[in-house]
Amino acid sequence: MTSSPDLLALAVDIACEAGELAHRRRSEGVAIAATKSALADIVTEADREVENLIRERLRAERPDDGFLGEESGPERGSSEFTWVVDPIDGTVNYAYGIPAYAVSVAVVAGEPDPRTWEARAGAVYAPAIGELFTAARGHGAHLAGVPLHVNDEIGPAGALMATGFGYDPDTHAQDLARLGRAMPLARDIRRIGAASLDLAYVAAGRLDAYFERGLQPWDHAAAGLVVAEAGGRIGGFAGAPAGRTMTIAASSELFDRIERAIEH
Ligand code: IPD
Ligand code: CA
Repeated sequence: MTSSPDLLALAVDIACEAGELAHRRRSEGVAIAATKSALADIVTEADREVENLIRERLRAERPDDGFLGEESGPERGSSEFTWVVDPIDGTVNYAYGIPAYAVSVAVVAGEPDPRTWEARAGAVYAPAIGELFTAARGHGAHLAGVPLHVNDEIGPAGALMATGFGYDPDTHAQDLARLGRAMPLARDIRRIGAASLDLAYVAAGRLDAYFERGLQPWDHAAAGLVVAEAGGRIGGFAGAPAGRTMTIAASSELFDRIERAIEH
């Protein structure tokens, strides 16, 4: 069972079960368990419980595959595959009761290195909104069975653009300066608070573009494939893959314009 559609079927099954657990826990009330890299960077009991569920299911069903999860870290496997998981992307939204949060499950092939691995399948499930974004390499991107396409045509008012800010206060000034340089290309800006949904919305044409510095592999592994399979371009500066230095997602033409605007 190693074809991209088969892997996607498992990713979907697990993301949906995990999403329902997150949603149920949210309705019972949220407890912040700890802060991580900065005071604003929180983890809830639900993040940990949901990641455990995903990890245990994968251990049972794909014991040879590797695992990389935001909350419990990496574990190398003996097969060519690694599962890259964010149990709750948009944790601050989750903690505040904003429904824009998602479970993100990707399976990638190759060395467990985000600079070189190849995403094969990805599922991003937003349980409080009831939306499931999926992609399997070579088989397109879908929302509820409907194929997704990025927007190729940007009107004269400019692009509807999303961005985000890392948790480290020291990075905010540079991020805001970049946003200022992108503004002339934008009709308006959104800060949704969940990178996986920002990317999925670019794939769905709900946003024209998204860019953010500081993303971790689990933030973009699944939804990055959704963008690419929807005909979009996702990457960093100067041909680098998407990652911590920069992630831009848009149509190819708009990608170039955003990169030129924010690069320096
Ligand atoms: C965060 C969200 C947020 C983005 C941060 C991410 P988390 O993920 O995706 O939108 O701005 O860079 O770390 O902490 O909610 O899983
Ligand atoms: Ca998370």
